[in-house]
Amino acid sequence: MSSSALFGTYARSELAFVKGEGCWLETSDGRRFLDFAAGIAVNSLGHAHPHLVTVLQEQAAKLWHVSNLYTVPGQQRLGERLCEATFADRVFFTNSGAEAMEACIKTARRYQYANGSPERYGIITFEGAFHGRTLATIAAGGQAKYLEGFGPKAPGFTQVPFGDLDALKAAIDETTAAILIEPIQGEGGIRPVPHEFLRSLRALCDAHGLLLIFDEVQTGVGRTGKFFAHEWSGITPDLMGIAKGIGGGFPMGACLATEEASACMVPGTHGTTFGGNPLAMAVGNAVLDVVLADGFIDGVARKGLALKQKIASVIDAHPHVYEAVRGEGLMLGIKCRAPVGDVVAAGRANGLLSVPAGDNVVRLLPPLTVSEEDMDEAVSRLDAAAAAVEGAIAKETSA
Ligand SMILES: Cc1ncc(COP(=O)(O)O)c(C=O)c1O
Repeated sequence: MSSSALFGTYARSELAFVKGEGCWLETSDGRRFLDFAAGIAVNSLGHAHPHLVTVLQEQAAKLWHVSNLYTVPGQQRLGERLCEATFADRVFFTNSGAEAMEACIKTARRYQYANGSPERYGIITFEGAFHGRTLATIAAGGQAKYLEGFGPKAPGFTQVPFGDLDALKAAIDETTAAILIEPIQGEGGIRPVPHEFLRSLRALCDAHGLLLIFDEVQTGVGRTGKFFAHEWSGITPDLMGIAKGIGGGFPMGACLATEEASACMVPGTHGTTFGGNPLAMAVGNAVLDVVLADGFIDGVARKGLALKQKIASVIDAHPHVYEAVRGEGLMLGIKCRAPVGDVVAAGRANGLLSVPAGDNVVRLLPPLTVSEEDMDEAVSRLDAAAAAVEGAIAKETSA
């Protein structure tokens, strides 16, 4: 029996970090790690960003929580700023990505119901998707490994192969309410959806009276070199779930919607105790102060291109370990030839934190504030990690 008091839900490393600064994390015994995981795209401004720390401390001294029975000024301000900078007219605040996606799913169903089509409740999603761990979002993600043992699967979710427009068209019927997609699959292995495909989804939704929902929980808030990843394709959704980067490490999320899509969500239809609390709103606004400042997002795009090029040369040097780099901005994935678990472990042994994903891909999601120097350091550690994996392979073959 495990000696831990905690659920055994995570395959945890023994590393326990006690402090962080910028792109660096430190353990209690003083070991320093270069954090190119950033809490899986959460610490968008790195660790202990001075502006976020100040704003959180100031808010903590004033007011932590009030119920959504009252007006929360920080919510109004953050909502307005998000609407100003995106397609959205309305925002509902949540505590997490899964809750943001649940709000999108509920809004899509309620929209059809309120517009005289209660039979339209179906949501079409794509193989390899990840939308969260609640009962509805594991059904939406459709991955057997997350559904096993938690049946019956929530009804109303149909999945089609990634990028297969014909299969998608065939799946649309009189029960379909919406199409849900990540513009770049994160957990699925940094798989960008072609811009043309996203444009086809918009056209199909318009033709069939469906809502288009984007899951930008991982891709959003500057991560890909645009404020939101769908901006690369030139089209906009009706609904969008966001989380992770908007809180910079403080738990929060949101469902963004057009006026038309959100009109059905009247008093009593949805709610949350903690979503949109003053602490989260103060931090969310502080994140936007930085991310929406002139030139910041362009800087992410520039850094992303530079990092991609540097990674390409490491791939050339280690063709038996690494295969190709893909992704956008600072949401990059290296498709591996060696097992991804070995590569991530070798990176960690060399002081570099990354995250494994599907399709044998190592995800690199550094803070958006990463410096040129830290990118060079990460690349040299990727090089050292590959050398270690090659050494292990050589040892195995000679044994
Ligand atoms: C694309 C996407 N959607 C939804 C989620 C769920 O977010 P959370 O873990 O905050 O519930 C995640 C989390 O990794 C995600 O990457």
